[in-house]
Amino acid sequence: MSAFWEELDRLRLMVEARLELYFAQSESDGLRRAMRYSALAGGKRLRPILTLKFCEAAGGDMEAALDAACAAELIHAYSLIHDDLPCMDDDDMRRGKPSNHAAFGEWRALLAGDALQAEAFLRAAESRLPPERVVKISGELARAAYRMCLGQSLDMESESEPIDEARLLLTHEQKTCALIEAACCMGVYAAGGTAFQIDAAKDYARSFGIAFQIRDDVLDAIGDEKTLGKPVGSDERNGKTTFYTLYGEEECRRAIDEYTARAVLALGGFSPAKTEFLCALAEKMAAREK
Ligand code: IPE
Ligand code: IPE
Ligand code: MG
Ligand code: MG
Ligand code: MG
Repeated sequence: MSAFWEELDRLRLMVEARLELYFAQSESDGLRRAMRYSALAGGKRLRPILTLKFCEAAGGDMEAALDAACAAELIHAYSLIHDDLPCMDDDDMRRGKPSNHAAFGEWRALLAGDALQAEAFLRAAESRLPPERVVKISGELARAAYRMCLGQSLDMESESEPIDEARLLLTHEQKTCALIEAACCMGVYAAGGTAFQIDAAKDYARSFGIAFQIRDDVLDAIGDEKTLGKPVGSDERNGKTTFYTLYGEEECRRAIDEYTARAVLALGGFSPAKTEFLCALAEKMAAREK
């Protein structure tokens, strides 16, 4: 295994060990069980890994950023539970397993999502960082959680009317980039980084996030369901406009490469030795199959 994949694995395990701790005593309580199910169902753990690596790039200690990192993942887990509900994308598979509502029923899934959002802010608030950093991290996370909902709202509205590229970009920026942006910035805040580093983290995250969602849209159309672990053809079934429906596979490939290159460029302000992983991550995600 290359050094990149080894590091990715190490970080993923770090995140999962902390998430395990949060949900260690979840067996006796139905709500907690449903929360645990989605928080520990696998997934790439991309957002917390971004927090940890931006913390490191800004000169901080990754261990100290771990609760903030997990807070981003908890918001992500909640967003996926709600995204899969029958009133939204109506998908009954997620990460190769029944979606939360398919496993626990609709009302429980709704509440598990709500409660995961609360859990995220609790874990961020209880992280052992200096209070002024916790305030910045919590504000960043709240803004992202709101923007994610706004993006999901735009996404759902688009089911009933075709939209143009500008509106699609806005949707992606809100529903996907916002949380990725927060994950990156929280890492810089955890390290006590500079305003310049925050701007660079935001630039990276926006381009990374757009490329990431375009790739997601392509995989939804032509990916392999087994590898993806979620239904292929969901966007078409729901009548969504995506980059794939607007431009097709080849143009999506070009756009993904362009946004990925922009993400890499945005890291110019950090020391190259500290951003090697983040550059490689953007490139690997551009070619991902799941
Ligand atoms: C899926 O996110 C939702 C999108 C924003 C495209 P991920 O592809 O990061 O999902 P997991 O966490 O790896 O399952
Ligand atoms: C959802 O986008 C983004 C979220 C904020 C959850 P999608 O609906 O395309 O995500 P998947 O394909 O179901 O993972
Ligand atoms: Mg959706
Ligand atoms: Mg979906
Ligand atoms: Mg999708």
